[in-house]
Amino acid sequence: MKKILVTGGAGFIGSHLVDRLVKDGEDVVVLDNFEPQVHQGKKPDYLNKNARYVDGDIRNEKALKESLVGVDSVYHLAAKVGVGQSMYEIKDYVDGNTLGTASLWDYIINKKANIKKFVVASSMSIYGEGAYKCAKCGVAFPHLRNEADLKKKNWEPFCPDCGAPLASVPTGEDKKLLATSVYAITKKDQEELSLNIGESYKIPTVALRFFNVYGPRQSLSNPYTGACAIFSSRVKNDNPPIIYEDGLQTRDFVDVRDIVEACVLAMKSEKADYGNFNVGTGRAMTIKKVAETLIDLYGKDIKPEITNQYRVGDIRHCYAGIEKIKAIGFEPKIDIKSGLKNLVEWGKVAKAVDKSAQAHEELKKRRLTL
Ligand SMILES: NC(=O)c1ccc[n+]([C@@H]2O[C@H](COP(=O)([O-])OP(=O)(O)OC[C@H]3O[C@@H](n4cnc5c(N)ncnc54)[C@H](O)[C@@H]3O)[C@@H](O)[C@H]2O)c1
Ligand SMILES: [Zn+2]
Repeated sequence: MKKILVTGGAGFIGSHLVDRLVKDGEDVVVLDNFEPQVHQGKKPDYLNKNARYVDGDIRNEKALKESLVGVDSVYHLAAKVGVGQSMYEIKDYVDGNTLGTASLWDYIINKKANIKKFVVASSMSIYGEGAYKCAKCGVAFPHLRNEADLKKKNWEPFCPDCGAPLASVPTGEDKKLLATSVYAITKKDQEELSLNIGESYKIPTVALRFFNVYGPRQSLSNPYTGACAIFSSRVKNDNPPIIYEDGLQTRDFVDVRDIVEACVLAMKSEKADYGNFNVGTGRAMTIKKVAETLIDLYGKDIKPEITNQYRVGDIRHCYAGIEKIKAIGFEPKIDIKSGLKNLVEWGKVAKAVDKSAQAHEELKKRRLTL
């Protein structure tokens, strides 16, 4: 039996991971500060009774001391996760995520915590735009679309070399990182700090670049989380999901149960050590299709609201190349239809305060959506 720390283990992904680890007979400690925006000021009722919870911040030395006693393995999932919000709560995001990760590692190294393995949650957001193919020039890595094109509603990116239209292809781990939000920069920091310190001190470390994760327990009242949760909250409250651009932008939606499998695999597999791995399904789905599927599953008679507006920093397409993680034994098992069905079954009984209109206003006020 291992003694495992899960930072952020009271959150959406962390709580599913904790359930799995407890089921596997591991001794689990959670360090989580129960971020009010995520938890609405109360402890969630899904907390696993067989794990030990330390209510504290990863930047707090006392909390680190209390949670790291006897621990040999760490899953570091604690982070503030709102992409749009990170563009104005800049200091908070850098502080919570970058300094938070630095504090955790500083404690491990300087207080000589006996850590044998460290897995950090990274994110697809660090890529910026995904990978594309130009019929003439081959593989292309466009930067963010320019404002003039977006104003003309030319949503698809063009080839940076010849200007021709591009086709989206799977994004591999070797793609240059072009983080386009404060959140993404802090996720890149979390990954790079962890891999660098892990390598320097010979503590096997793995960074998992999660794509768009969905599933039960993702906060339905936090308007800054993922599209599936935000849309669920809208639909459940009889409001149309608000869709930017034309809705044909795509993402790789991956079920939280597959993410948990990848986490456990990364912890166990020596082949994963010191590497970074995409975790997705390897398939792209349009945002519009996700919204329509959710409406259908909730049995509501509404249509998504396609705004033709755009958000500063948004990418058009990105889905995961998963060859690298497949080579160490990962296989995504849950198709999106059954995954969303599972999400909706939970969503029908979960509490959902729809705050997305306020979130939209916050961005609008700062000209972060146009
Ligand atoms: N959900 C996704 O689609 C997705 C995609 C890519 C990466 N990730 C990453 O996965 C991890 C988990 O995300 P999630 O979706 O479960 O989010 P979440 O908000 O549900 O969970 C994060 C948890 O961390 C806690 N936390 C935040 N800051 C903390 C701090 N300073 N000290 C202690 N605890 C703190 C929060 O209270 C929360 O319980 C994050 O690192 C996130 O960046 C998530
Ligand atoms: Zn070209």
